[in-house]
Amino acid sequence: MLRSPLVDVERLKKAFFSRYGSEPRLFSAPGRVNLIGEHTDYNEGYVLPMAIERRTYVAAAPNVSSKIRVRSVTLDQSAELDLEQPGPKKRGIWLDYVEGTARALMDRGIPVVGSDLLIDSDVPAGAGVSASAALELGVGIALAVLGGSADPDRVKLALAGQAAEHQYVGTMCGIMDQYIAALGQRDAALLIDCRSLETQSVPIRLGDVSVLICDTRVKHELSSSEYNLRRAECLRASNILAKSLPGVRTLRDVTVADFERLATQLPGVVRSRCRHVVTENERTLAAVDALTRGDLTKMGELMSQSHVSLRDDYQVSCEELDVAVDVASAEKGVYGSRMTGGGFGGCTVSLVDNDAIERVGAAVKSAFAARGWSSPELFASVACEGARIER
Ligand code: GLA
Repeated sequence: MLRSPLVDVERLKKAFFSRYGSEPRLFSAPGRVNLIGEHTDYNEGYVLPMAIERRTYVAAAPNVSSKIRVRSVTLDQSAELDLEQPGPKKRGIWLDYVEGTARALMDRGIPVVGSDLLIDSDVPAGAGVSASAALELGVGIALAVLGGSADPDRVKLALAGQAAEHQYVGTMCGIMDQYIAALGQRDAALLIDCRSLETQSVPIRLGDVSVLICDTRVKHELSSSEYNLRRAECLRASNILAKSLPGVRTLRDVTVADFERLATQLPGVVRSRCRHVVTENERTLAAVDALTRGDLTKMGELMSQSHVSLRDDYQVSCEELDVAVDVASAEKGVYGSRMTGGGFGGCTVSLVDNDAIERVGAAVKSAFAARGWSSPELFASVACEGARIER
């Protein structure tokens, strides 16, 4: 099975020196995969992501000017921004992430100085493993350290990354992606309470079992408009339910029992969206319990139920994700499989016996080939550390 193609950091540092003429410091932040708890973060619910082995590396040095000069190795593009003159927002270009992060840090009182950045990454972009949060956190930790914060507060960095998405990129995402990219831990997933922002480390020592990620390599256009629509539908559900349940602020406050009692108050589509969110919150807490007990069979069942709920009630799956999940689930040695991330393309995540990985990968690839779809990429990952200063 394909292992992560690691970025060559020595080469990156040398390339930095020949481009900018100074010795850089090195920083990095990971992509992520969400084990369970999908579309719950913006409802102030629970999520259970882990940071993956793929990372975005940022070589950086101050440049004694008011400018941030930045080059992306993967995109083969350079750009520049002036800290004294805010650039336009939502230009639809990658510099939006960099500028948004720099501004959001400054808004939070974290000093940012003129800097040169050279960025390389092996987090696949547009694949639903949060290449954007990896970029925001990689740039965020680099700029914060160069600006004088010796060991920047990871929570502030995560919130700055989310603010960059909201204000500069125009994606109204929840906090999951930036939080796990900031706070990921080796060999543990993180239960995040997206209301209090408290976290609980959930060790995943899976022994003979791996977390297998399948990148379908499709991204359907619908993803951002439908994402904002789902947010609005959830808000509508919580507003309606709050009339009967005064304590309800968001769907986080609605239990499955409440939902069952009051479901008929909700219009059809809104009812389905609400059912997904309240049951997904319950499944996420059950998953923490299952993982803690080492009960992978239960964990796998919960993942499979999550997929069905996302497919049928939340309607954020697509044919390619369903095929990848169904084909993997039919193989021996697979505990569970589901779409992961926002949906409408991107990745699936499965729990798979190590000795079944090759077979599962081949089965999914041949199902895609039989439909004339381009070949998916499969890779296993352990849970990794979040944003860090590289030694
Ligand atoms: C995207 C968003 C996250 C989260 C997921 C769905 O990845 O960035 O905040 O809402 O979708 O769980």
